[in-house]
Amino acid sequence: MKLIGLNREEVKRVLKEGKVSIAVYGLGRIGLPLAAIFAEHTKVVGVDVNEKIVKMVNKGENHIKEEPELDELVRRNVEEGRLEATNDGVEAAKKADVMVILVPTLANDREIKLEPVYDVTYKISQGLKKGDIVITEATMPPGTTESLIPILEKSGLKLGEFGLAHAPERVMSGTAIRDITEKYPKIVGASDKETLEAVIGIYEAINKKGVIPVSSIKTAEAVKVFEGIYRDVNIALANELALWCEEHGLNALEIFKAANTQPYCHLHMPGAGVGGHCIPVYPWFVINLAKKTNPRLIRTAREINDAMPKHIVELAIKGLNEVEKLLNGSRILVLGLSFRGGVKEFINSPALEIIRELKKRNVEVYAYDPLCSRGDAEKFGAKWKEDFKGIDAVIIATDHEEFKSLNLEKMAREMRCRVIIDGRNVLSKEVSKLGFVYLGVGNI
Ligand SMILES: NC(=O)c1ccc[n+]([C@@H]2O[C@H](COP(=O)([O-])OP(=O)(O)OC[C@H]3O[C@@H](n4cnc5c(N)ncnc54)[C@H](O)[C@@H]3O)[C@@H](O)[C@H]2O)c1
Repeated sequence: MKLIGLNREEVKRVLKEGKVSIAVYGLGRIGLPLAAIFAEHTKVVGVDVNEKIVKMVNKGENHIKEEPELDELVRRNVEEGRLEATNDGVEAAKKADVMVILVPTLANDREIKLEPVYDVTYKISQGLKKGDIVITEATMPPGTTESLIPILEKSGLKLGEFGLAHAPERVMSGTAIRDITEKYPKIVGASDKETLEAVIGIYEAINKKGVIPVSSIKTAEAVKVFEGIYRDVNIALANELALWCEEHGLNALEIFKAANTQPYCHLHMPGAGVGGHCIPVYPWFVINLAKKTNPRLIRTAREINDAMPKHIVELAIKGLNEVEKLLNGSRILVLGLSFRGGVKEFINSPALEIIRELKKRNVEVYAYDPLCSRGDAEKFGAKWKEDFKGIDAVIIATDHEEFKSLNLEKMAREMRCRVIIDGRNVLSKEVSKLGFVYLGVGNI
């Protein structure tokens, strides 16, 4: 059922009555949870280029293992006939009233990579009908959603005959279901008032925190990108202050904790670096699009955060020196391969950069991650190790829950040298009581 022209209450009602057909493009960490949540109410087709994912979803199987509640949601909605998957993006668009784009958007210091967005938009244009609404939820460099208009108009329709909106995903993988349905309000910008009203209704149907409408699509895009940049710059500030504390024999964590009792101060946690496809990526959207402005602070923050894995290696050298051991030829166990605790995601993971740096310096590198396999460790050049026997130093690179309660007595017994480099500040100086040399970022 077409939604443009209905008010938000009517949209919510018809969506919950199952009268709206939604296509979600990209069945990844965020797309599959979103598709399954919509399917609780109405008919959803998920579109993905990955055949394996399409097959799994059609069998009612969830491929996002860090999202455990999703198993049941996918199984039930496929069984009850409200959720299906396909790799045919044109057919999906022909059947849908609302198309949501949630494919990867990436960037580095040289370029912004949006090919998947353009690819699915082109497919949508081939199935676009009057009254349809296209929503980008993938994080977009400001201006990108509107740049899709000429592609969508290849359908023969003009903007206004179809609606366009941006409603950024503000969620984190691993907690996507909770985040989408009840954690944060949805930000929405749209091409016209009627589309905005309809899109508000769509998200109010699934999000208990409601919707914050903003004045334009580009504004909505900037909201999400700026959220990520805020994190990156503030983590860089925490890292820089932590390095300064190391130089001056101060404990940054103690200082930050006390300083943060002042309500205008929000010093973040320093650490081994920033990974994933969000925080280290979004700054480049702004930097690469800047023409007259020179985003020096944002660029410097990137440099500071990117240098942190090297600093972890420097801490390892310092720790090993304290037990009269050289880095060259030592055996180091890296705990964690993922970029963040609780997920299995390697993109831009500081752990991998630490492994690369150690290997350059002729270290025998071992790795363990509770969410990964031996094959994952080997793929990144480390040997898999589930104990501490013969290890000279342990580097904690990921804040997985398991690492917060390491068996320190066992470590003390098994390790050849007792050195812990805590890249995520998950332990405390207390461990030195067991005879460990313990060094953390800003905590040496
Ligand atoms: N993962 C997060 O925590 C998170 C949080 C907020 C926002 N985002 C944003 O959401 C978007 C998607 O991220 P994600 O983490 O779900 O990515 P993902 O890599 O987990 O999933 C993307 C999916 O899109 C599919 N795909 C790629 N190209 C395609 C194409 N041309 N046609 C159809 N399907 C295609 C892939 O096969 C994959 O299944 C990105 O813009 C990301 O920045 C992600």
